[in-house]
Amino acid sequence: MKYFIETYGCQMNKYDSELVAGILEGAGYCPSLRPEDADVILVNTCSVRQHAEQRVLQRLNSFKALKLERPDLKIGVLGCMAQRLGEKILVEKPFIDFVIGPDSYRNILQVLNGVHSEQRESSPKIFLNEYESKETYADVCPVRVRGVNAWVAVMRGCNNYCTYCIVPYVRGRERSRSAQNVIEEIRRLVDEGFVEVTLLGQNVNSYWDGEHDFADLLAMVAKVEGIERVRFATSHPKDLSEKLVRVIAENEKICNHIHLPVQSGSTRILQLMNRHYSREDFLAKVEMIRKYLNPVGLTTDIIVGFPGEEEDDFRQTVELVREVEFDSAFVFKYSPRPGTRAAQFDDMVSAAEKTRRLEEINTLQKEITKSKNRQLIGQRGVILVEGRSKKSETDVMGRLETNKIVVIPNTILPKGKLVEVTIVGADGVTLFGRVNHQN
Ligand code: 5AD
Ligand code: SF4
Repeated sequence: MKYFIETYGCQMNKYDSELVAGILEGAGYCPSLRPEDADVILVNTCSVRQHAEQRVLQRLNSFKALKLERPDLKIGVLGCMAQRLGEKILVEKPFIDFVIGPDSYRNILQVLNGVHSEQRESSPKIFLNEYESKETYADVCPVRVRGVNAWVAVMRGCNNYCTYCIVPYVRGRERSRSAQNVIEEIRRLVDEGFVEVTLLGQNVNSYWDGEHDFADLLAMVAKVEGIERVRFATSHPKDLSEKLVRVIAENEKICNHIHLPVQSGSTRILQLMNRHYSREDFLAKVEMIRKYLNPVGLTTDIIVGFPGEEEDDFRQTVELVREVEFDSAFVFKYSPRPGTRAAQFDDMVSAAEKTRRLEEINTLQKEITKSKNRQLIGQRGVILVEGRSKKSETDVMGRLETNKIVVIPNTILPKGKLVEVTIVGADGVTLFGRVNHQN
């Protein structure tokens, strides 16, 4: 039996697909590269913005023809949309066989074997999270594509209830894996040839296994023999501690890159978003980070057009972007998510205005990224070689610890090796380097 799995959304979802692959392969299923060849098609979905959901719904329709040709084909919807929409998906798209939420993937074999849960006789094809789920999949071995970097989820869920965000509703409450269990997985990863790990969580800074906080965990992971680099995402500014930043500074293997979503530069809007920090608090965190870490890659997420965002609030976001000089920023137009608190707020910003604000920040950030990259010309750095550059067969690419990509033209460099380079050029967001020959 062959399965095909397609993934939308964040890194956590990609990791979850690796978990599901682990469950299926453990039961004898083989991966298929094309949906046409598969006996089971799985779509792991994202609900964070309406646009993400629309893309999935269109994609699901494209699988309908396959189902008509081959009635034995099973099609399943996994992830956040499965949790959010549940039965609605089966009613609206009767060619879908089952839906499974992010904490219920262990049920997938049951569903595929046609064995229905006793308690759920009424809707045996729907498996949704319980509110207080403790699931961490600690004993499931994810199936990863061999490479340089592996993702490892160290916690799941979120307790923050930012008013715009669907995540706490679809992924449930926060829970952490034990540090011991994480370390065991990372030792296995080293045996499989991985040299870099990215620790994942919706808010890694609130990691707590009853004994260790996230700073402790990072320090433990950095000590695992064979691991060259440790990365992590995502940090909530309210929980990012000085202790954590110190641990990053003290450990060479922990990369100086922090993804720190600010969302808005206006304290008034931050309050409406329930973010628990002010503009000044955020700026103070940035100052603290830069006191300890140099260089540091600082990246962020920004939402424009949150309900009630006036021109003055938006200008404060623009000014904050100018002041902080992030290395890059992901900017999103606010998208109301049914069931969240902000979905009931009025004072919606028009679609045209959201687009204008998005473009203004993107243009400004591009200039900042370019100018920061130009300042790196002539400087030395160490990259971890990841493989061929996307644009050319003869070039290789790797990342600096700040997460910036460096392309080395016309070279053969071993994947997974640390190489010292000098930055010789910057074209837009891409850096070009030359290998330093050690003597
Ligand atoms: N609308 C727009 N962007 C959102 N994000 C989360 N929820 C929404 C929403 N309803 C953005 C935030 C978050 C990132 C992952 O997605 O910026 O940090
Ligand atoms: Fe959503 Fe906020 Fe939790 Fe991030 S911290 S997942 S934005 S609720």
